[in-house]
Amino acid sequence: MAKRTIVTLPGDGIGNAVLKETLRVLDAAGFEANYVEGDIGWEFWKSEGNPLPERTIKLIEEHKIGLFGAITSKPKDEAFEELSPELKDKNLVYSSPIVGLRQRFNLEICARPCKTYKGNTLNFIRRGAQAEIEEPLVDVVIFRQNTEGLYGGVEWSNPTNDVYDTFMSHPKFKQNFGTVPKEEVSISTRIFSKERTENILRAAFDHAKNYGYKSVTLCEKPNVIRETSGMMYKMALTMQAADYPDIELWNTNIDAQMMWLTKNPENYGVIVAGNMFGDIVSDGFAGLIGGLGFACSAQWSKDGVAVFEPTHGSAPKYADYDTSIVNPIAMVESACMMLDFIEEKEISTKIRKAVSEVIIEGKVKTYDMMKMRGTADVVNQGAASTTQMANEIIRKLK
Ligand code: NAI
Ligand code: MG
Repeated sequence: MAKRTIVTLPGDGIGNAVLKETLRVLDAAGFEANYVEGDIGWEFWKSEGNPLPERTIKLIEEHKIGLFGAITSKPKDEAFEELSPELKDKNLVYSSPIVGLRQRFNLEICARPCKTYKGNTLNFIRRGAQAEIEEPLVDVVIFRQNTEGLYGGVEWSNPTNDVYDTFMSHPKFKQNFGTVPKEEVSISTRIFSKERTENILRAAFDHAKNYGYKSVTLCEKPNVIRETSGMMYKMALTMQAADYPDIELWNTNIDAQMMWLTKNPENYGVIVAGNMFGDIVSDGFAGLIGGLGFACSAQWSKDGVAVFEPTHGSAPKYADYDTSIVNPIAMVESACMMLDFIEEKEISTKIRKAVSEVIIEGKVKTYDMMKMRGTADVVNQGAASTTQMANEIIRKLK
């Protein structure tokens, strides 16, 4: 069989280190692929004024599968400051290339599993009714709508007259903001479309059905955000009644869900939410299973383009250490999701087993697993480096 080509997108900061180590793990597990590297991130914003160059889009169009590290995003003004001087008069506006990539390929479905690792000393514990210590098992998959909502990019500061007039025609805008000078108004929209809302709900229910979860929890705020969250809830009710009678539909508000997270995380199965709330609730659940060093994700389109990434960012404060200290497990697990997607389940099973053995054994731990502050000298104090952690996973593969 011809080897698969995977587009690697290391991006910025720790994205480079975790991706590099993950490729070694894939290799050691016997996954044979050609890798082509795509340019993405801050460096290309500064030098070309485009953090997601067209040549990278072409590579993904051609090969369909991307393995992404992380990128750095900075606010508008800072981004402009760092732009190469000859690009400064070109009216360029920075926007996040990973958000851009999701929108460009309509990677509308994002799945973020959070499952307790046996023996992980970072696992969440709580007190029970008799003050006994309980360690609830978390087994949740968050389905996050990945392309629209608050990340849709439809926003203005000091909007143009026609936009302002349109908003003024809304009675609530007029009542609440009508006396605010136009120049002092900033607007970010939260737009949901029916088709994409349907798609993320369907993906969540299908996942629950296929993997034996008994409930799907919609985590929005339909009592206040009536049009978008409200539409999503109504659609979820209809879908459940028509097509998934054996799966319970639960409805929680995002704020209450953040409280339930620590009260009874073991009760949840599949969670589905819009873009922003999905991002929030997935970081929340990640905290219960060890934090961002463990949180992986997959995102895909209906046409079979898929990009796999840890949910953490580029952690710039650790990026320039001579020896990388961050945990590569989130990236390794994201690569396992890629292997599942391309039907290489034997290899993903092998890698996941190796990772869980390393965690259970508990001899090799990155700084986050030892609850240390992420200083440059943690390796001298007994923490494993990114490379040492990958070495240990590789050792377990053998
Ligand atoms: P971050 O995820 O980069 O870091 C937050 C904290 O999480 C770190 O300080 C560290 O304590 C911990 N952490 C993250 N990854 C870890 C790992 N692999 N092992 C151990 N600990 C880890 O988020 P932050 O600081 O909010 O953002 C930094 C930059 O990353 C920003 O420019 C942001 O825009 C970008 N970002 C990019 C994302 C992406 O590429 N998809 C996602 C989130 C943030
Ligand atoms: Mg996030």
